[in-house]
Amino acid sequence: MTQTVEANCAADLSIRDKKSAFRTHSPEETQEIGVQIGTQLRPGDVVALIGDLGAGKTCLTQGIAQGVGVYQDQIVNSPSYILINEYEGKIPIYHIDLYRLERLEDIVALGLEDYLEGDGICVIEWGDRMDELLPESHIQVTITAEDESTRAVEVLPISPTHKSFPPDKGG
Ligand SMILES: Nc1ncnc2c1ncn2[C@@H]1O[C@H](COP(=O)(O)OP(=O)(O)OP(=O)(O)O)[C@@H](O)[C@H]1O
Ligand SMILES: [Mg+2]
Repeated sequence: MTQTVEANCAADLSIRDKKSAFRTHSPEETQEIGVQIGTQLRPGDVVALIGDLGAGKTCLTQGIAQGVGVYQDQIVNSPSYILINEYEGKIPIYHIDLYRLERLEDIVALGLEDYLEGDGICVIEWGDRMDELLPESHIQVTITAEDESTRAVEVLPISPTHKSFPPDKGG
């Protein structure tokens, strides 16, 4: 069981090797978790954001952009009408929002492969809508509203299971 901790412990967050769960009490606290995620992201990483309308996916993305180090004066907000926003920085970020695309075939038609397989970072709101198209390894973040200002934020590294590898016997 993963213990849910308050957001001021977000410094413990590790996006590669363990599941972590936080509770935030303001948009700023959710952004701070985004910053911690962003500082650990590398070129080619994909982050799938899951959560209802108003959960805080864009808010978290603002923190991620800050953590990755996007150049200043770029406004990070919901690209709901544009589908994809690009932010320039040390590593480019492609901010994708699938809110308007409920059918997998419409998402396939977008042809996101170049973004997903490129050297930028993809952050995808409503990422669960393209589960089948996500790379085997990615970072899944689920945000759940508990009340008006409280959010549960779960960060889960997803990676392929190497069933064929024998367990490391050590020595
Ligand atoms: N703890 C919190 N964390 C994040 N947002 C919060 C929190 N408490 C309140 N909010 C409010 O919740 C809203 C989150 O909006 P945001 O646009 O980030 O959601 P979203 O998940 O991207 O929604 P959409 O599906 O419409 O794109 C904002 O109005 C923000 O002020
Ligand atoms: Mg949004």
